[in-house]
Amino acid sequence: MAVIDGKALAATIREEITHEVEKIKELGGKVPHLAAVLVGDNPASQSYVKSKVKYCDDVGFESTLIKKDESITQQELIELVTDLNKDETVDGYIVQLPLPRHIDQEVVNLAIDPKKDVDGFNPMNFGRMALGLPAYLPATPQGILVMLERYNIETSGKKCVVIGRSNIVGMPMSILLSQKRDVGNCTVTIVHSRTKDVEQEIKEADIVVAAIGRANYITEDMIKPGAVVIDVGVNRLEDPTRKRGYRLVGDVDYANVSQKASFITPVPGGVGPMTVTSLIMNTLKSARKEIYK
Ligand code: GUN
Repeated sequence: MAVIDGKALAATIREEITHEVEKIKELGGKVPHLAAVLVGDNPASQSYVKSKVKYCDDVGFESTLIKKDESITQQELIELVTDLNKDETVDGYIVQLPLPRHIDQEVVNLAIDPKKDVDGFNPMNFGRMALGLPAYLPATPQGILVMLERYNIETSGKKCVVIGRSNIVGMPMSILLSQKRDVGNCTVTIVHSRTKDVEQEIKEADIVVAAIGRANYITEDMIKPGAVVIDVGVNRLEDPTRKRGYRLVGDVDYANVSQKASFITPVPGGVGPMTVTSLIMNTLKSARKEIYK
């Protein structure tokens, strides 16, 4: 079994990007600039946005963090988004989710200029992605594709089971892996709450992508020997031996499944660092106008 070290791979990619930024600076070009909008004080969102800004700093990007109180109205947030669309110094930006309940996330995503939508959440980017046109790919699925590519994992003709059908992970992941692309050409099954025999579907998979949000849900008996296991889950398990009172575990029972898999991503240190690094990759693409000329 080999561990897919997302933390190390993400660091390598950020190093590559750091060199790209140095070259841009030497040539007097514009340094990529990511802005992040954070509404309210959700601790997980604060921590994610903090790491996004830190990664920007690490690679030499400019970054702007815009914090707004929970009480911001939808109209005010749309005005902020409209200003970011017009701001020529900003190459790409994200509005961290979840948003407070009084704000319609879909309305906000629609207001983001697709050219600056480095999260790939605007329906224009999702649609272009589904059609196989140049688009900003959502960060987690893109991070997984890069992992599979850099670890030379064969995907063509493989049976892949994606567990979970969210708009930001399961659904785009299943579309991308089924497409005719370098990392793709899989026969994809999406497993969800209405699937008749979840275990049987997973047992047949050469590649398993788990994105359900249930701690240690995927057990060793569900996994075909030699399968590639990608764990997107980030779940808190109470652990009084830890200072913070919990530890992070994935959707996969790592200790046992790793005995049977050919490749596996750990949690933490697997998909997570690749997700944030994807956003950095997209911001560089935006600054270079690679997706929209
Ligand atoms: N909340 C959880 N994941 C994400 C993400 O990738 N982007 C944004 N904007 N919000 C999130």
